Amino acid sequence: MDKKTLNTLIQKFKPLMFGILLLPFLWMVYQTVLAPQSLGADPTKALVDHSGEWAIRSILFALAITPLRILTGLTGWIHWRRMAGLFAFFYALVHFLVYIGFFLQLDFSRIYQEIIHRPYIIVGAIALILYLPLVITSTKEWQRRLKRNWIKLHKLVYLIGILAVVHMTWLKKVGLMDTWPYALILVVLLLIRLIPKLKAQKNNF
Ligand code: HEM
Repeated sequence: MDKKTLNTLIQKFKPLMFGILLLPFLWMVYQTVLAPQSLGADPTKALVDHSGEWAIRSILFALAITPLRILTGLTGWIHWRRMAGLFAFFYALVHFLVYIGFFLQLDFSRIYQEIIHRPYIIVGAIALILYLPLVITSTKEWQRRLKRNWIKLHKLVYLIGILAVVHMTWLKKVGLMDTWPYALILVVLLLIRLIPKLKAQKNNF
């Protein structure tokens, strides 16, 4: 199949991918509303953990779009980039709302104690805040307006990925022993981005 057909196919699959990325959220809603017993003895912790897991998985998926383009040579993947990025923000937001809604039960007076008890929350909060300028400027209009600064600004997504892995590793009793798959995937996705640069350098020699 030629590249043109493959690129069209990737675009055609975008609505299906949207549905697949929405499934974990729909499943969490189903569990919460219709099958809370499936969340186990501590449903609140289970929901915070599940939403956290999908927050980190979706940011890694968003970071995988450019490597997919580099490795396959197909530009069609770019049409998934904004969708993947917005879903990564969506799951981080769901995770945060589950935390303040169910965990804190909107009792903000407990935040100070929570931060003392769970300092890794600060790393999570910074990652969540760093999403905001990316979400706001994710439109074509902003891309046109910011030009090269848009590319520079959206490199923040690398830092969000790193903060997500640090947040998860810090909270895990066994640290990287538990989170090394996420850390490894992140490192590989960031390294693949160097391939075109290394190729260009090699051609210059
Ligand atoms: C203000 C923002 C955030 C707060 C308050 C927060 C809070 C928490 C808390 C309380 C836990 C559960 C700890 C436990 O199991 O005892 C957790 C787990 C987690 N969070 Fe966050 N988080 C935030 C942002 C984020 C972001 C932005 C990401 C990823 C992009 C993320 C990814 C995760 C992951 C992967 C886990 C581990 C889930 C597991 O145990 O499998 N969090 N977070």
